[in-house]
Amino acid sequence: MENNKLPPKTDQPRAEKILIIGSGGREHAVGWKVAQSPRAREIYFAPGNGGTQKIGINVDIKATEIEKLLSFAQKEKIDLTVALPDDPLALGIVDEFEKAGLRIWGPTKAAAKLEWSKAFSKDFMKHHGLPTAKFEIFNDYNTAKAYVSRQHMPIVIKASGLALGKGVVICQTPREANEALENMMVKKVFGESGGTVVIEEFLTGPEISIHAFSDGKTYKMFPSSQDHKKIGENDTGLNTGGMGTIAPVPFVSAESMNEMARDVVSKTISAMADMQNQFSGVLYPGLMLTEDGPKILEYNARFGDPETQTYMRLLDTDILDIFDACIDKNLDKLEIKWKKSPPAGGQVFACTIVLASDGYPENYEKGKIISGIDEAEMQPDIVIFHAGTKIVRQDLTTNGGRVLGVSATGKTLEEALAKAYKAIEKISFEGMQYRKDIGKKALEMIK
Ligand code: AMP
Ligand code: GLY
Repeated sequence: MENNKLPPKTDQPRAEKILIIGSGGREHAVGWKVAQSPRAREIYFAPGNGGTQKIGINVDIKATEIEKLLSFAQKEKIDLTVALPDDPLALGIVDEFEKAGLRIWGPTKAAAKLEWSKAFSKDFMKHHGLPTAKFEIFNDYNTAKAYVSRQHMPIVIKASGLALGKGVVICQTPREANEALENMMVKKVFGESGGTVVIEEFLTGPEISIHAFSDGKTYKMFPSSQDHKKIGENDTGLNTGGMGTIAPVPFVSAESMNEMARDVVSKTISAMADMQNQFSGVLYPGLMLTEDGPKILEYNARFGDPETQTYMRLLDTDILDIFDACIDKNLDKLEIKWKKSPPAGGQVFACTIVLASDGYPENYEKGKIISGIDEAEMQPDIVIFHAGTKIVRQDLTTNGGRVLGVSATGKTLEEALAKAYKAIEKISFEGMQYRKDIGKKALEMIK
């Protein structure tokens, strides 16, 4: 049984100081995996959360304060920095660290543009024949408005830049479309991120996440995963950062994973390399499996959250070896292993259920006392990753919208989900909300 405590001591040298940038469940999960490496000596999180504090040292520097992070890494002689959130990548943290001669894992600003500019990524997809929704790009409000008036509804309007996952509006009526355009382009609710918009055709089909490690030249696929982005059960209500994930997705065959690796990941990595803009890090395309085949909804230039919490439960290879292989451009030489169940080496499934604050993804209160985590973690195959938590005096309290990710593994997806939901019964904080149907649609699809 795995738990959330420090890994057992080994005789091997624990040499390295690692700095992990970010404060969410993804950062806790990567830190948890790093802590299992015999090479990791000290792990720092900037700024971290209540859970990362138990496996490392939280440093009070925000993920976007690049100069301060750089000085900290220099002063502490950090051996490897791992850049996880979208904002620092878009601000060029990797370029700045590399310029200063520091070792950092993640894509450069130019490569991360696949995520931080939808206008760039859509043009890139079109130019390289990558499968995606038909689209037009607009910088001018009146031209966009005139275009929308000629389109059939529904239509999808996207702010080109980063918008905390809120920059996509699916418009059912021309009125909704005009409102979305006005909010983005005139009222600038997403600031400069909405100055340019992508307007695209509405697609239908199940959505999945794929992830691949890349060293810029080659890539290694993760198993498929699926996030649940809406706050409400049966995919209703507002979009969130992600309310729960499963992996691998039971309805995605090995054959279709191979096709997506070939038609999406491989093509993207080689097209970027051809443009002298190598992508090193994790490439995470969000895909919709339409009747005409998989289409790319968006690129992310990083690990997903909460996909990562689920993936880390399945990853068998030392993650520091993978980070090294990405940086040193010898990923082709590394075999990345994902957990198999003993004795026959059958499939292992994992899931993560997010526990959120009342009111999330809109306004919510912080500072609620969380209880029951230790008891929940004593259950078989449960690991709890913290997101919005903070230790205040001796108490673990809520400090964000998404508070915890309860992860479980099992020989079947049903088993993993049942374990996670059972563990959740032990946990409570005022106003705690979570989706009770994570994985349900995926399981119905294979019936
Ligand atoms: P994105 O941030 O581009 O992944 O979009 C957020 C969510 O909006 C996706 O997870 C989809 O559910 C939805 N979405 C994005 N683009 C489209 C599209 N062209 N057709 C239908 N739904 C979409
Ligand atoms: N799983 C959603 C995201 O990381 O963007």
